[in-house]
Amino acid sequence: MKITMIGTGYVGLVSGACFADFGHTVTCVDKDESKIAAIRGGKMPIYEPGLDALVASNVAAKRLDFTTDLAEGVKGADAIFIAVGTPSRRGDGHADLTYVYAAAKEIAEALDGPAVIVTKSTVPVGTGDEVERIMREARPDLEVAAVSNPEFLREGAAIGDFKRPDRIVVGTDDPRATAVMRQIYRPLYLGEAPLIFTGRRTAELIKYAANAFLATKITFINEIADLCEAVGAEVKDVARGIGLDNRIGSKFLHAGPGYGGSCFPKDTLALIKTGQDFDSPIRIVEAVAQVNDTRKRAMGRKVIKALGGDARGKKVAILGLTFKPNTDDMRDAPSLAIVQALEDSGADICAYDPEGMEAAASLMPRVKMMSDPYAAAEGADVLVLVTEWDIFRALDLKKIAGLMTAPVLVDLRNIYPASEAAAAGFKLFRVGGVD
Ligand code: UGA
Repeated sequence: MKITMIGTGYVGLVSGACFADFGHTVTCVDKDESKIAAIRGGKMPIYEPGLDALVASNVAAKRLDFTTDLAEGVKGADAIFIAVGTPSRRGDGHADLTYVYAAAKEIAEALDGPAVIVTKSTVPVGTGDEVERIMREARPDLEVAAVSNPEFLREGAAIGDFKRPDRIVVGTDDPRATAVMRQIYRPLYLGEAPLIFTGRRTAELIKYAANAFLATKITFINEIADLCEAVGAEVKDVARGIGLDNRIGSKFLHAGPGYGGSCFPKDTLALIKTGQDFDSPIRIVEAVAQVNDTRKRAMGRKVIKALGGDARGKKVAILGLTFKPNTDDMRDAPSLAIVQALEDSGADICAYDPEGMEAAASLMPRVKMMSDPYAAAEGADVLVLVTEWDIFRALDLKKIAGLMTAPVLVDLRNIYPASEAAAAGFKLFRVGGVD
């Protein structure tokens, strides 16, 4: 199959490279010339484990190439995927579809034959109808079908998620588009990943419902964690105790500082707006978004409490700035609200993150970025573990305690057992724990 991918962000680039790896011929298109030049030169615009090698091998095999020329890129394509950004619109929280619709129009004008247009970007219900309308209006001479094919990739694990998906969702009732999509995903469903065909609007909603459900699960356990602290119970045991029930499942039950990233905060907000617009409010998700928002700053107050209630002039060392490990993404990271709360209270902050410091530096200009966890801990009054990067799981706690002014650890990811922290001389504060 010949596939064109419009947009070389994290979804477009990962999907394009993986399709090429399945043996399809893929052209990735992006307007940003410097980005395309960098990718061609082997420099990926995002940090995603394994992506540079995957791109390099498929470029070398001549299955994958990159261009800024959309008209050239869509020529002869069996399917054209739209994977451009859908940020939250300023002011009202709706998904901003400007880029999706602009791409649809540009594609239509450049088509040289019948085409299947597939939306991979996360878009609200009804977007596919509008994409199809735009295409038909621009090219009444051609047969076009607009398909919804949402992605369920996690940053940091995107290649594995693409190649071994729990399911593939395709929203279309067009027989030609159905045949093309079957062919594209053949290598995957041959490997027994369920390929689910639904109506287009249903596929669009599945994506939002999945993310909102996961965000709800996290927020649920976070509130249970708060209750655990209040009543003297242990949230890790509660999570295990409920997660072993197959109907609940143990994943996404890790209590922490609140969810962040480029997806959950934006997608929950967009679902809330859709619900309100259609007079069908999703109140449970409204509550989730609100609770999660206030939680991040509350984590800053938790650190101040660990400092004895006064952070003025105290030195805080933060480990982990990105919203989760294995990414350099700082979007809606809990660290942003935590740093803000601590700076508002007069603390001096230094930090270390394996991949996020470059992006973080401009967002938190007063924070001193350090070369490693031990340099960050030097002279600190409290060490705050915000993101669970693997390297923070193997810290020499004794050494760190010796470097600090006061060995206090606020572990917002519940990595360290109380016994281990105590053995190193730390006073430990956790999430949802009794010690
Ligand atoms: C999420 C979904 O997991 C993907 O399926 C989806 O495709 C993607 O959004 C998207 O819409 O593009 P992602 O945002 O990369 O993926 O990250 P997650 O691993 O889902 O984590 C999101 C946030 O939840 C992070 O801040 C993480 O720390 C937090 N989290 C996750 C918890 O606090 N506890 C958990 O148990 C799990």
